[in-house]
Amino acid sequence: MNQALSVDTADIVESDRDSELPALLEDIYQHYNHDFRQYAAASLTRRINWALRKLKMADIAQLRDYIVQAPQNFSTLLQYITVPVSAMFRDPAYFLALRQHVVPVLKTYSSPKIWVAGCCTGEEAYSIAIVLREEGLLERSVIYATDINPAALEQAARGIFRNDQIRAYTENYQRAGGKTAFSDYYHAAYDNAVLDKELRKNIIFAEHSLTTDSVFSEMQLISCRNVLIYFKRELQSATFDLFHESLCRRGFLGLGARETLDFSPRAHQFDNCVKSLRIYQKNNESLIVNPVEGLRRFQPARN
Ligand SMILES: C[S@@+](CC[C@H](N)C(=O)[O-])C[C@H]1O[C@@H](n2cnc3c(N)ncnc32)[C@H](O)[C@@H]1O
Repeated sequence: MNQALSVDTADIVESDRDSELPALLEDIYQHYNHDFRQYAAASLTRRINWALRKLKMADIAQLRDYIVQAPQNFSTLLQYITVPVSAMFRDPAYFLALRQHVVPVLKTYSSPKIWVAGCCTGEEAYSIAIVLREEGLLERSVIYATDINPAALEQAARGIFRNDQIRAYTENYQRAGGKTAFSDYYHAAYDNAVLDKELRKNIIFAEHSLTTDSVFSEMQLISCRNVLIYFKRELQSATFDLFHESLCRRGFLGLGARETLDFSPRAHQFDNCVKSLRIYQKNNESLIVNPVEGLRRFQPARN
């Protein structure tokens, strides 16, 4: 009897969470203009459950009360629901391919602009800065590194990472075609490594949301890695619309290893530059408009 009761209670808690989740996401959108409503449900639910455990809350109703009380409370939740994980030269082959196939084209521009969208704590932007520096291009480039997580951006701007990551980063750097010693780019400070301030000079860290903000400049390269995996297909398509609009003629788009443009209505508007590494180049095709549905743009969900 007791056992049956406890199983029922657990079921109620689960379904309660499911039905309350859209209301929580709507609260977040209405109060803080952050739109998680079209994020992939499975991973978002996992992260919300983790937040509930960490914040010692029984249910989403309690979490809803908590976040509307103060912006600081929402900032706390944001740390749980974004995924602040990154690494220098993560997937080294990607950075080697940028060096070999994309940088030669970037060199033809007087001042190339690069957008690292969803830059987290800065590792991807600093890795690109190192490649550009070694190719003699950093001085005349601008790297916009954006994210929705202000705490991650603050850490990115400090350019500090833990000493115990250096061995892995050095290996990645070498496999990415690094031309010198990785140690040339940082100095040790207690348990940390501090990146060379010169790398930071041409990087602008700023808040920008791929779900609620729009185009802000014309880019020659957009690198957006390990962000779209958290979006539903429709939101991915809306993000590709934004990227297409942001890229110059023949501009490049680099995605993460588990992300792809295939299946997107924009797929035919990009050529494969390095297919296996998800590096694409915008072509001159126009968007095929479905005569029945019209131009398919993302419409925010209505409750
Ligand atoms: C797993 S990290 C990827 C970091 C880095 N791009 C890499 O590959 O190492 C995902 C990042 O995407 C950011 N993010 C999530 N939703 C976003 C959105 N709507 N707009 C911009 N960034 C977003 C998160 O805050 C997080 O920093």
